[in-house]
Formats: sequence, structure tokens, C-alpha cells
Amino acid sequence: MATDPFAQFKAAQREAWALFIPIAASTTPPAACLVEFAGIRSGQSVLDVACGTGVVAVTAARTGAKACGLDLSPALLDEARRNAAMAGVEIEFTEGDVEALPWPDAAFDAVLSQYGHMFAPRSELAIAEMLRVLKPGGRIAFSTWPPEMLVGRIFALVSGYLPPPPGAAAPQEWGDPATILQRLGSKVRNIEFCRDELRFPALSPQHFIAMMEQSAGPVAKLVSTLADDPVRLAQFRREFVELVEQFFVRNIVRQSYLMTRAVKA
Ligand SMILES: C[S@@+](CC[C@H](N)C(=O)[O-])C[C@H]1O[C@@H](n2cnc3c(N)ncnc32)[C@H](O)[C@@H]1O
Repeated sequence: MATDPFAQFKAAQREAWALFIPIAASTTPPAACLVEFAGIRSGQSVLDVACGTGVVAVTAARTGAKACGLDLSPALLDEARRNAAMAGVEIEFTEGDVEALPWPDAAFDAVLSQYGHMFAPRSELAIAEMLRVLKPGGRIAFSTWPPEMLVGRIFALVSGYLPPPPGAAAPQEWGDPATILQRLGSKVRNIEFCRDELRFPALSPQHFIAMMEQSAGPVAKLVSTLADDPVRLAQFRREFVELVEQFFVRNIVRQSYLMTRAVKA
């Protein structure tokens, strides 16, 4: 088997994303939007890719779907199992990488990902794998961050201070409909887009930033990397506040995100 050139990058991601649990409160409402947008129905087999704490998988399972979830982070999968148990649903959660899914071809009626598969460094492999495990005629649907919205701009800000390894795709590319059309290509039909809003309650921009520094994988990683460089860290925080202020209204950081759905040809 070929060695993964991004193995070290993914190991760092696995560690950094383990901090994500507090943010899952904010990704819970959009999980219901994605499950509805994907048209998930009782009895369908559904894979939640990069499931984190399982918000999409649990929501799908509560509609009666047979859900599975996959993520890089064992810590988040433990929380996902607790969430499923609390909701009273049975879900198989598996540790793994979206670039090498451990299921046979055509295993699922639907493949979903909420702010997840976009972090795979090789976007072409991630989408090829998601489509491979989907049945012909099955539905793929995902939520992603547009490059012009806050989270997309945070990714760009962070990568200016902590560049990704050469050849890694920028996550926010998955928030651009033209790029999505090109990446899905003729492997799917009936591509549709929809926007919704995600809201983070926060007492001030600085409160939002503190939460991101503690719990958002790429931001947490950058802040720990800059721990010995207070000048650059202060500069990063100034730029971060300026950015967040543009999206902060009445104690809510609000921004739209993009949902995409398509049918496997
Ligand atoms: C922003 S979180 C989203 C989690 C969840 N889908 C939600 O909406 O709350 C991104 C997730 O992607 C996972 N992830 C990043 N790279 C991955 C990869 N190559 N394969 C599988 N999961 C990955 C992280 O571990 C993390 O759980």
C-alpha cells in the first residue's frame, strides 16, 4: 500500500480536532438542516463523514435511518457514542480517514458531511471515496464554509501564519459552487445548492475568539505554535478581532454557509 504523504498532517489534525466538543452545540441546528436538505428517510443507510460528535448521524438516526459515522478523532467518536446512547439510537462509529473509507462500493443510500470532508488535504480522493461508497442513484449532500464568510476567512488568516503542507487543498475551496461543480463533474446529476445561516452566541468578539482558540482545531493548533512568539500571536489576535467584528451583531456571530446536494449518476 502507498504511504500517505499527509500522514503527519492528519495526525496533527486528529489531535487538534479532539478539542471540538464545545463547538458542537453550534453545529447541532445545521445538522437538522442538512438531514432535511438531503431528504433522509426512515430505513435508508446513511454515512456521516467526518462526523465529529455525531450531530448529523444522530439526527439521521432519529428519523429512522440506519446511520454510520466516521472521523479521524477517537475522542470525538467517544462523545458521538455517548450522544447516540443518550438519544436512544444505534449508530456504528468508526475511526478512519475520508480519503480511504473502510466500506465496499455502493454501501450507502446517502453520504453526508457537515463541515467535515472539506478538511481532507486531497479533495479529489475525498470526493472519489464518498461517491464510491454511495449507491448509484443515492444522494450525496454536504455543508461547507464559503471563502468570503467568517469561517472561510479564518482558514485563510490561519494559513497565512501556519501554512498547510504543500499540495494540501484549502478547506474553504469547498465553499465555492464553481469549484464544487468542477469537483463533482459528471459523476453526479441534479446538483443543487442552498444557503442557511449558522449562529454562534457570544458576549463579545473576544469571547468568540477565546472559544475558537480553545476548541477549533486549526486555530488551537496555530495558537499553541505561536506560544513562543508573543509578537506574532498578538498580531494574529488583532487581525482575528477585526475579522470577527464584521460578523458580530447583537451578541451573535452570524454567517451563511453553503449546502450542496446531488444524485450519484
Ligand atoms: C468542524 S468539525 C465538524 C464535525 C461535525 N461534522 C459537526 O458538524 O459537528 C471537522 C471534523 O472533521 C474531522 N476530520 C478532519 N479531517 C478528516 C479526515 N481526513 N477524515 C475524517 N475526518 C476528518 C475532524 O476530526 C472533525 O471532527
